Amino acid sequence: MKIKVLMVCLGNICRSPLAEGILRSKADSSNVFVDSAGTAGYHIGKGPDPRSVEVAQEHHIDISRQRCRKFKEDDYFAFDHILVMDRENYINVCALAPSEAHKKKVRLLLEGTGLPYSEGPDPYYGGQEGFEKVYDLIDKACNVLLPELTSSKKQPHEK
Ligand code: 4NP
Repeated sequence: MKIKVLMVCLGNICRSPLAEGILRSKADSSNVFVDSAGTAGYHIGKGPDPRSVEVAQEHHIDISRQRCRKFKEDDYFAFDHILVMDRENYINVCALAPSEAHKKKVRLLLEGTGLPYSEGPDPYYGGQEGFEKVYDLIDKACNVLLPELTSSKKQPHEK
């Protein structure tokens, strides 16, 4: 059975499309299914922000065909791991949990990875350098996360 991972941010046009593309590029697609969603519905149906597309392209990852969708309660049933970019996402995703037990699926992507950040900074209102920085953080986090996700039934970052 595939491990199903959902990456979540606010808009689903900057950070979580990068996280989806990066994790997918590292994972064996026969073992891992990756998707992304946003807690807000501002950009539903649109492609990722051109700045995210550009930084991914620089790393030979094509995210241009992704389409924005909103996080929904059903995602708790469809996914094993829901990895959020920041604490605001965490609160908004947990607010839709069908039970307390389901909230255990939700984690901050960067937390417990040894990186000096626990949140992926939102680059939307800044310049291209913010996209490069968040790309780098997500990339490093995925390197730590992927073996944990695929080698055990533990929650990511669980000791
Ligand atoms: P994201 O960034 O959550 O990383 O996709 C944002 C994208 C859009 C908006 C905010 C953050 N917005 O306000 O439209």
